[in-house]
Amino acid sequence: MSEKTILKLQLPTDPLWVKNVVESNIEELLTDHAFCEQKAASNAITLIVQNPNLSELVQEMALLVQEEMDHFKRVHDIILERGYILGRERKDNYVNELRKFIITGGGREAQLIDRLLFSAMIEARSCERFKVLSENINDSKLAEFYHELMISEATHYSMFIRLAKKYAEEIDVEARWKQFLAYEAQVIQNYGKSETIHG
Ligand SMILES: [Fe+2]
Ligand SMILES: [Fe+2]
Repeated sequence: MSEKTILKLQLPTDPLWVKNVVESNIEELLTDHAFCEQKAASNAITLIVQNPNLSELVQEMALLVQEEMDHFKRVHDIILERGYILGRERKDNYVNELRKFIITGGGREAQLIDRLLFSAMIEARSCERFKVLSENINDSKLAEFYHELMISEATHYSMFIRLAKKYAEEIDVEARWKQFLAYEAQVIQNYGKSETIHG
């Protein structure tokens, strides 16, 4: 994701989140992060189940499931290397708040586009959080790991936006994306206080 695209997120994360919150509890960050990857894979599976007729989407999601589970495995490897054990899944309040923005009525196209944009939004914010982590964390191995993941999540973000544009017939994707960005900017204001990826 280019600098400019990241900046489309209306509120950047304060790097002090890394210094003051994350670094004091890396174990918690890693457990939460592992489950973010699992949830990204689960979301891709749900998209396949809901849209079996959209062949390009099914192909992309099948690849995405593999990639997100590879990320999961790599986070889990780091957890084990450091002598930790994966904790239980952490609630992701940020994602749950974002999910409320997905349209409930509005027909099949509107629901599909919203689900794709919701997914793009999480990839975009995760990408931004990984960037802030990679640039600020006092741990060279994690800095390198988060840099690599930042690039990967940027690719996922672009893929979801591309799919939304491909499958939109009536809906103005750019206009809806702007609404998502504005909503996300309100939601994220209350975060940056805990040692979770979207915390
Ligand atoms: Fe990932
Ligand atoms: Fe991703």
